[in-house]
Amino acid sequence: MMRRKTSIILIATVVLSLFAAAGSVGAVNFEESVASGAKVYADNCASCHGAEGDGGVGPALNKKSKLDALGLEKFKHTVEAGVEGTVMPAWKGELSEEEIKDVVHYIYAEWADFIIVGLEMWPWEITYVVVGIIWALMGMYYVIRV
Ligand code: HEC
Repeated sequence: MMRRKTSIILIATVVLSLFAAAGSVGAVNFEESVASGAKVYADNCASCHGAEGDGGVGPALNKKSKLDALGLEKFKHTVEAGVEGTVMPAWKGELSEEEIKDVVHYIYAEWADFIIVGLEMWPWEITYVVVGIIWALMGMYYVIRV
């Protein structure tokens, strides 16, 4: 009986380590996405929206209140579709799906709270941590009971 509980805890530990590893891969990917988004922005957006997002031909993008109000999905859609009847180009086809995602991540990480983007990426990581803690506690509980 004791052995069986111990191996359950061992398996749980291995599974949790895998989840933790997957979680950190997600975080690294996000940082990479922001870094390459910075380049996409400098190359394609800065000329109209300003190097610091403070606007020019196009409106300023460095306002958290505006970014919050638009929201990630709507913002991304505007980047993809452009704004008809204005000089704001449709970037779908010009930039890859990945580059569009990266530039949106960059803009939100830079000028809105990192958390907003973080929340989009992180619920599963947070879930793993919470589930991990619960499992760990259950494991301890079993050990104490046995
Ligand atoms: C040739 C100039 C130009 C370039 C290059 C450009 N934009 Fe724009 N952008 C504009 C203009 C002008 C508007 C305002 C359109 C309007 O009147 O609604 C705009 C609007 C936007 C909006 C909507 C903002 C709002 O307040 O609703 C977003 C988001 C946006 N641009 C993102 C980008 C991104 C990201 C890039 C680079 C991939 C980019 N733009 C490149 C000119 C440009």
